[in-house]
Amino acid sequence: MTTVSVRASRSYEVKVGRGLLDTLGAEAAALLKGRTAAIVSDSNVAPLYLDRTKASLEQAGFQVCSFVFPAGEGSKNGQTYLDLLEFLAEHQITRSDGLVALGGGVVGDLTGFAAATFLRGVDFIQIPTTLLAAVDASVGGKTAIDLKNGKNLAGAFYQPRLVLCDLDTLDTLPAETFADGCAEVIKYGMIGDPGLLDLLETTDFKKDPEEIVARCVAQKRDLVEQDEFDTGARQLLNLGHTIGHGIEACSGYQLSHGKAVAIGMTLITRAAVSFGLCPAEALPRLQSLLKKYRLPDATEYGAQALYEKTLSDKKRTGSTIRLVVPTAWGRSQLHQVAVPDLLQWIEKGLSL
Ligand code: GLY
Repeated sequence: MTTVSVRASRSYEVKVGRGLLDTLGAEAAALLKGRTAAIVSDSNVAPLYLDRTKASLEQAGFQVCSFVFPAGEGSKNGQTYLDLLEFLAEHQITRSDGLVALGGGVVGDLTGFAAATFLRGVDFIQIPTTLLAAVDASVGGKTAIDLKNGKNLAGAFYQPRLVLCDLDTLDTLPAETFADGCAEVIKYGMIGDPGLLDLLETTDFKKDPEEIVARCVAQKRDLVEQDEFDTGARQLLNLGHTIGHGIEACSGYQLSHGKAVAIGMTLITRAAVSFGLCPAEALPRLQSLLKKYRLPDATEYGAQALYEKTLSDKKRTGSTIRLVVPTAWGRSQLHQVAVPDLLQWIEKGLSL
């Protein structure tokens, strides 16, 4: 097992290893004063892991209730959030009790936001069960729900008390969902870890993901500790996400987040090469890495449509937009671009 310690407005540990689900009860008993825990999960994950999670908590003396909602981004809305708050109130969860988020990014974001707001804040533990949630969403305290006008528009920065990343849960992921997480893993390499990119090129980490997952979590920890509230360095985590958001929106959110990020990274790298900001060899290396991990590197959408959808992203500030631009193999920087110039970046990113 590898432990990564995060020192943000609240300090906590991220534990990465196999078989950790069964240690939850003991870990929660050491962290929480109360002895009631509410597990929040979805209809994909609950049939696989809810019973074990519950048993572990009960063996440690907890009374356990569980709230399970239909899997999918469509559930990350105000209605599910309010239903969850009412459920917590009905089960008389107090400030000394705790919530357990058992699932991927949707479960983690929704549970975290409920934890941040129920009784003005109760503790919560993240148990990420997708690669994407393990390396990104479960760490760093971003919690949110979607509004009709866009994704993650209502939320809070609220750190968990513990993240237990049981790598056994990644073994049951559909290949497509695992590939989505690989896009975020490749992103960490492109942001600032050429050694990680070497590992990804030379090994296949699916069977033994501990080193790779822990390395991504450590990089996220470093960025969150520098910039918890996302006003500077943390924005490097948006590599591939700005244009990726435009691609996701153009597809009516039919294309998965990971695939959109993979294409977004390709476009921004190609544009960076074209503007002379990044060595040319970075682009084919990125493309073959994406191919190795079954991720796409091209989109059918045109520059104008992508430009319009990208601008609706909340990463925009007034007349400028901050892009994350690769400047070497395994290094990226923030780059402020005037809004009208974004169109040219997208055009360069698309041109073959
Ligand atoms: N998922 C990006 C961040 O946590 O900042």
